[in-house]
Amino acid sequence: MKNTAAPTLLRIDSSARRNGSVSRLLADNIENAWLGAHPDGEIKRRDLAADPMSHISETTIQGFYTPAEQMTSTLLAATALSDVLIAELKSAHTVLISAPIYNFSVPSSLKAWIDQVVRIGHSFAYDGQSFSGLVTQPRAVLALAYGAAGYQGPMKDMDHLGPYLTQLLGFLGLPRVDLIAVEDTTGEALKVSDAVKTAQSAIPSLFQRVPA
Ligand SMILES: Cc1cc2nc3c(=O)[nH]c(=O)nc-3n(C[C@H](O)[C@H](O)[C@H](O)COP(=O)(O)O)c2cc1C
Repeated sequence: MKNTAAPTLLRIDSSARRNGSVSRLLADNIENAWLGAHPDGEIKRRDLAADPMSHISETTIQGFYTPAEQMTSTLLAATALSDVLIAELKSAHTVLISAPIYNFSVPSSLKAWIDQVVRIGHSFAYDGQSFSGLVTQPRAVLALAYGAAGYQGPMKDMDHLGPYLTQLLGFLGLPRVDLIAVEDTTGEALKVSDAVKTAQSAIPSLFQRVPA
């Protein structure tokens, strides 16, 4: 039986592709490396393509801005999913997010999750002058796939995936965000395979085995 204090890897996949997905392949490798370092660890999965997340509604937003003592049963119901997702994120040891770039940004499936977890007073605070993150425990690893090449060069300004996710997780307080990415996934097969191998070679150094 698993120890209840076992570290948890919260894995969030967002590619619409279940087959042939480069971001999911990288996430599989990262998950295995994490399990190698945390043999007693548990994996919690959120597959946003298989089980799309509800979008926030007008009532959810009303609930987000209503003081706890004034919450009605309707508002509690509309914010219940957000409560669960934020608790899941805060208690994770590591959050692994796999994502493709779609139209220069995150897939809408992942944006729906983001809109549920970025919540004032729960995952970030504002004191009237500055913001502070309230999700200070988990580290994050991003597994990203880009169809085109050049995001380190001429296409840099069009990359609203890696920089956005890195900044967002930092805003929430996560202490460390690592990024493993493959570009040009729609290019020639041999080159794609080489690029995947290069990205995979950086994965083992992300995690160090915890002494027993
Ligand atoms: C709807 C859609 C939009 C895409 N938009 C972009 C884009 O803006 N830039 C890009 O470099 N590749 C784009 N691509 C290509 C994907 O990022 C690429 O195929 C990637 O490998 C998909 O991730 P996956 O392999 O994990 O499924 C797009 C693909 C789709 C299906």
